Amino acid sequence: MSARLDATPLSGHTEAPLVDIEGLARVFDLSKRWLNRMLDGSGKVTLTAVDGVALSIRRGETYALVGESGSGKSTIARMAVGLLPPSAGTVRIADADIWAERSAARQRRIRRQIQMIFQDPFASLNPRWRVGAIVAEPIKAFGLKADAREREQRVGELLSLVGLDPRDAGKFPHEFSGGQRQRIAIARALASEPDFIVCDEPTSALDVSVQAQVLNLLRDLQQSLGLTYLFISHNLAVVRHMASRVGVLYLGRLVEEAPAAMLFAQPKHPYTRMLLDAVPDISMETVEREPIAGEIPNPIKPPRGCHFHPRCPHVMERCRTETPPVYNAEGTAVRCHLYAPEAKG
Ligand SMILES: Nc1ncnc2c1ncn2[C@@H]1O[C@H](COP(=O)(O)OP(=O)(O)OP(=O)(O)O)[C@@H](O)[C@H]1O
Ligand SMILES: [Mg+2]
Repeated sequence: MSARLDATPLSGHTEAPLVDIEGLARVFDLSKRWLNRMLDGSGKVTLTAVDGVALSIRRGETYALVGESGSGKSTIARMAVGLLPPSAGTVRIADADIWAERSAARQRRIRRQIQMIFQDPFASLNPRWRVGAIVAEPIKAFGLKADAREREQRVGELLSLVGLDPRDAGKFPHEFSGGQRQRIAIARALASEPDFIVCDEPTSALDVSVQAQVLNLLRDLQQSLGLTYLFISHNLAVVRHMASRVGVLYLGRLVEEAPAAMLFAQPKHPYTRMLLDAVPDISMETVEREPIAGEIPNPIKPPRGCHFHPRCPHVMERCRTETPPVYNAEGTAVRCHLYAPEAKG
């Protein structure tokens, strides 16, 4: 169920990927309590939010996940950073299986290596703590600097690194703008000296005018610190700016994966094409674009076969019953029967 969508063969890159996700799945149980089910005769209700996702991310790369609301992006993010246990599958970071690691010391190392930046910086910063304490917390927790003076100095360095003033350490989160607060959240994420950062809609809550500044900061930090990102955004213009590779999610399944330039120039899956068509500013054209046709089906009862078939303009008979395997279409990995070798005849 988890055929890999490896669009970019790792040839030429002998290094193993930093992040390797295999057969990842998450099912949520939405049923009422057992007794209530007995009384009103209702059955068990489950929702498959993530369904057999496999992807790998090389060191220094930005892998973007795109897809409509509810497609499973944040659920993957939470499993990849260790916040939500998967129903099936593995998440490996530099060869450690993060959900199977038993040694406490290695678990700690994994937690230090992985950080997450959330959409809403205000919610992710403790309002009663001064910025200095917020940024110093991971340094303390992971025992990176034992001496208080050294920690203070490190906090100052981190604040400068994200474009703030070391003296901002004495202020509280509410004294900053949204963009500045996201910079504080980034400084705190960097404090543990991570290798891998998951950014879930990191600029979606910010004013358009500051979005680009924060995105450029993330890119600069990636370059200077050699960071690896899993980057989640519903904004395709942002993804185009940030990503080296893009995976397209639909109802919990990866349906297409390609290097970013290829995905934007030649989208293969009918769903990806629909997503790109819905974004007028992606190619800076002024022509009116089609809105995305149809609605996402109910994830509790997803369509059989290809999940996308009820909305697909190219639907064929087999799409209604057979889940497409991964086909290779000129270097793009795509789960769509249109790319079956026999379909091209
Ligand atoms: N804790 C939970 N319990 C039950 N269902 C959940 C839970 N978390 C997520 N879901 C469901 O799983 C599916 C995927 O949700 P997820 O938050 O991963 O989507 P997303 O792609 O991040 O969407 P958005 O773009 O709106 O952030 C949705 O149908 C959602 O309702
Ligand atoms: Mg989300």
